[in-house]
Amino acid sequence: MKLLLKGGNVINPLNKSITIQDILIADGKVTAIGRELAASLDLDLSRSTGGTDLEGRHLACPKPVFFNNEETSKDACPTISVINAKGKYVVPGLIDMHVHLREPGFEEKETIATGTQAAARGGFTSIVCMPNTEPPADNQAVISFIQQVAQKTGMVNVFPVGTITQGRAGKELSEMASLAAQGVVAFSDDGAPVVNAKLMRHAMEYAKMLNLPVISHCEEPALAAAGVMHEGFTSTMLGLPGIPAAAEEVMVARDIILANLTGCHLHIAHVSTAGSVELVRAAKKKGIKVTCEVTPHHFTLTDEAVSSYNSQTKVNPPLRSKADVIALQAGLKDDTIDVIATDHAPHTQEEKELEFELAPFGMVGLETAVSLVWTKLVIPGILTSCEAVAKMTVNPARILNLKKGSIEIGADADITIIDPELTYVVKPEEFASKGRNTPFSGWSLKSLPVATIVGGKVKWIKT
Ligand code: DOR
Repeated sequence: MKLLLKGGNVINPLNKSITIQDILIADGKVTAIGRELAASLDLDLSRSTGGTDLEGRHLACPKPVFFNNEETSKDACPTISVINAKGKYVVPGLIDMHVHLREPGFEEKETIATGTQAAARGGFTSIVCMPNTEPPADNQAVISFIQQVAQKTGMVNVFPVGTITQGRAGKELSEMASLAAQGVVAFSDDGAPVVNAKLMRHAMEYAKMLNLPVISHCEEPALAAAGVMHEGFTSTMLGLPGIPAAAEEVMVARDIILANLTGCHLHIAHVSTAGSVELVRAAKKKGIKVTCEVTPHHFTLTDEAVSSYNSQTKVNPPLRSKADVIALQAGLKDDTIDVIATDHAPHTQEEKELEFELAPFGMVGLETAVSLVWTKLVIPGILTSCEAVAKMTVNPARILNLKKGSIEIGADADITIIDPELTYVVKPEEFASKGRNTPFSGWSLKSLPVATIVGGKVKWIKT
């Protein structure tokens, strides 16, 4: 079965170009890129089919390809599907390098099946899942379990992260070499910092030997203490205990110093403060191997969003000040911030309905990320569409050594189609994710992923 994507605006984040092209996919790979491929390759489109095209027309094959892992039967369908991508962006399959899939252990919040469905709807063809499961992903058996369940029930590629320390307890290193042998793409205790600097140093030494990055959740726990939101004017007004920017920055500084000492590739998760951006900028200038990511909620919202005591705004690190948001956007623009990642953190409605101080930290992000990136960064001119796409494709792919992130002949046919003209009103009740915990409910955003193709198979198409 072949798939032809016709006439889309193809974004190449490697050379930051946009060109109108057709893309032909066969056997899961990109096999041709060019203008008017049907004519030049003499493809017979008279028997074309493929569910539903982007104009919503049902084509000859009656079977729409919604979350359907089964191959469309060769007998039932002719040999080529066509998706009309005119006026849409056709981009390398998006990669989210910071997702909490919750399985094993917290299946009431999310499963690998539902989390990857949410990823497909959000335009992500590959996601990287964090190890704060139960049991934690600190051994080969848990990693192997995640890989097998993802193989069976996953809609998109799933790349697991292994813990830095056993049980994420911050006391002893996990069996990092055996985790690497099992295929983890990075090490992290995400959700918790590694407080002991000596242990972090040794983790970085091993990670460097294994040629894998350490993803650091930067939070100095004594400074963060029992804080539930950003420490500042709003926390004082609301009478809520604050988490100072310094709680993050102290750890960012420490880990940069340790990365310099060890030569390890340090990736800082969810940077949220102007000070962190400045520390990373200075470290990069010195040639230290450090990269970092920002979430859509941190470049969109400020701590003022907490004023309603709405626990959907409770997240760690917390939503920061206006000055921090401006610094994050500047860091994206000058490439201090390499990656946009969601920190998709689903929780149950019951948990999030608790009063602000008791509710868990975290918000879902997979199904709103692209629309927020376009609405808050691309449309206002902070990033070009090519720059934004690079931060969700080639940059995370490079950091994690994934052979993904670009559309080239011979590459895996992981492709996302984005409609920049669509208006999307966020309705959490329609999410594929089990988590409905978003502060963006009811927001009207511009642009939406409309098709997600993984290994040449259409995993999501908007009808
Ligand atoms: O808000 C957060 N939630 N931040 C984290 O670092 C962890 C995440 C979770 O696992 O719920």
